[in-house]
Amino acid sequence: MPEELVPVLSRDEIAQKVKSLAREISKDYAGKDLCIIGVLNGVFVFLADLVRELTVSVQVDFVRLASYGSETVSSGNVQTTKEIELDLKDRDVLVIEDIVDSGLTIDFLLKYLKQFHPKSIKVCTFIDKIERRQVQVPIDYVGHVVEGGFLVGYGLDFDQKYRGLPEIYRLKP
Ligand code: IMP
Ligand code: MG
Repeated sequence: MPEELVPVLSRDEIAQKVKSLAREISKDYAGKDLCIIGVLNGVFVFLADLVRELTVSVQVDFVRLASYGSETVSSGNVQTTKEIELDLKDRDVLVIEDIVDSGLTIDFLLKYLKQFHPKSIKVCTFIDKIERRQVQVPIDYVGHVVEGGFLVGYGLDFDQKYRGLPEIYRLKP
């Protein structure tokens, strides 16, 4: 049976939020060479929109993480399944996520990236879902805050479905 989808953000609202994040990031990194690390898979849609709005020069790489546990709750047992290929030493790194939930993925990733000795690391997430946060992670740029719920669309999946929806929805429990 198909799940019921409740609208959360329209295409226009998403576009406005992406533009405003891009303005802030472009201002903060003006004159710098920014190194963007996207967290696969969910981030590919947001990242594609964001980089096209930035006015600073960027290099882009991806990391893929696997967290063992149930499909909808992060277990904290995180491993990399695709490594970074860019040399991050002395670089200004911006980690881009689709959604931060428990914080366990970002917490792991920040520790993982620090071993490459970047000059700076910041975090940008399109959605900050605060209700189930387990680790207080620093998030420097946030597109939209939600209390809870399971969101799909704009890259976010449920069981690999709905990534291609241009809007964001909440799955009705
Ligand atoms: P965290 O480690 O709990 O912060 O989980 C982050 C990852 O869990 C995200 O990058 C997503 O892949 C996934 N996730 C968490 N909440 C949602 C959601 O509402 N929809 C889709 N994926 C989610
Ligand atoms: Mg993700």
